[in-house]
Amino acid sequence: MAETQPRRAHVGRNSWKTVRTLLRKIRTKSVSNEKAQSNLIEGIRKSSTPTTTTDESTNVSVAEFAVPGMQKALVVARKGEYEIRHDFPMPTVGEDEIMIRGHYVGLNPIDWKSVDYNFCLPEFPWVTGREMSGVVAQVGSSVTSFKLGDYVWTSTYYKDVRAGCFQEYVVVPSHTVLPIPSGVPIEAAACLGVAALTASMTLWKWLGVPFPQGSPNSEGGQWLLIWGGSTVTGQFATQIARLSGIKVITVNSAETKSLSERLGASYVVVRDGKSDEEVVDEIRTITNDNTTRAIDLVGPKTAKLALDAVSREKPVDFAPLAMMPGSQIVPENVEVHTVEMKQFVLDKSNVRYTEELGKLLDKGLIALPELHLIDGGLHSIQGGLEMLKKGNLKGKKLVVRMS
Ligand SMILES: NC(=O)c1ccc[n+]([C@@H]2O[C@H](COP(=O)([O-])OP(=O)(O)OC[C@H]3O[C@@H](n4cnc5c(N)ncnc54)[C@H](OP(=O)(O)O)[C@@H]3O)[C@@H](O)[C@H]2O)c1
Repeated sequence: MAETQPRRAHVGRNSWKTVRTLLRKIRTKSVSNEKAQSNLIEGIRKSSTPTTTTDESTNVSVAEFAVPGMQKALVVARKGEYEIRHDFPMPTVGEDEIMIRGHYVGLNPIDWKSVDYNFCLPEFPWVTGREMSGVVAQVGSSVTSFKLGDYVWTSTYYKDVRAGCFQEYVVVPSHTVLPIPSGVPIEAAACLGVAALTASMTLWKWLGVPFPQGSPNSEGGQWLLIWGGSTVTGQFATQIARLSGIKVITVNSAETKSLSERLGASYVVVRDGKSDEEVVDEIRTITNDNTTRAIDLVGPKTAKLALDAVSREKPVDFAPLAMMPGSQIVPENVEVHTVEMKQFVLDKSNVRYTEELGKLLDKGLIALPELHLIDGGLHSIQGGLEMLKKGNLKGKKLVVRMS
């Protein structure tokens, strides 16, 4: 009986040659496509003439770089659980909105607190991340303030998933997009959206500190107490207060005392080896009942200590930025201000604070915090947040490089 062998497919020499030629052609084509694409982007950047398309989902006209159909995002998939998604939908751009491709994101305590304690997460999956710097990738039809390719920074509001900074492309209202001040590196601009903006608005909007007039110490004997002088927010607050004419006293560890002194604190109380009462007494002795403004950047316990340290006679404005329970007894002469950074996004008039901050940065009057840069993009964010949680960065700001 004749045995029938399955026929082997025969691939002759010439066939391999054909396959190799085809592969070469495909490779050449995709390289030239890539080149064409980068030439196109470069061309758009140079001419600054946006292409205009219509975004069907929002039915508005947008000017855009070549942006992908999907993007990568670090999402909070379930309570307490992050996941990297490679197919996360691209955010759509409304007529007065801007899409930014993130180059750097700043990490903040709120990022891990909201996930660990499950707040500020309207639904799952959700994207967190409050501040970033990058390049304008699309603009809505009514936007005239920026064009494609401009380098910018922004500060975002958690309620819009498109504005979560732990994704490749972020969409925000145009008034919340700011140019990177001269002399500020793009990676450092990623820390302006939370710490710098919070310090600016807390002082100028809520605590009634005047904008800088150029004459230091115009408020004479009055003091601002910053409990947590080395926190990134405290570093900005110290400098802005000094430039605005207010004398600053801070509470720090011995290790960060010189940092606050360099930034302009008139007196630094070193807390190491002292009881809480001793720290409070030292503040009261130095300021002689003249602390009329205070910020707490540490927590409920130090918020109470700050209340013990401020003036007992004069009116006091106090901003507990790191939580103070509603049950805390507050002296009658103290007004407690609830700092709501969402107001920057919800109320356009608050742009004046970023303008004022921008002027100080443009003039090189504010020293930026030392950065601790982390590579690895979205994959490195969780590790960075763990570092932040340990709380031993000694005044360094964690920034993740996205690309
Ligand atoms: N919108 C808002 O309401 C808002 C905005 C920004 C920040 N915040 C809150 O403000 C707080 C600070 O944020 P951040 O990012 O600026 O902080 P950060 O840079 O992470 O602060 C870390 C620093 O805190 C200092 N610290 C720790 N315990 C202290 C204590 N008992 N007394 C004095 N200093 C102490 C440590 O420096 P030493 O070595 O000097 O102790 C440490 O280097 C956080 O709770 C954050 O959630 C709120």
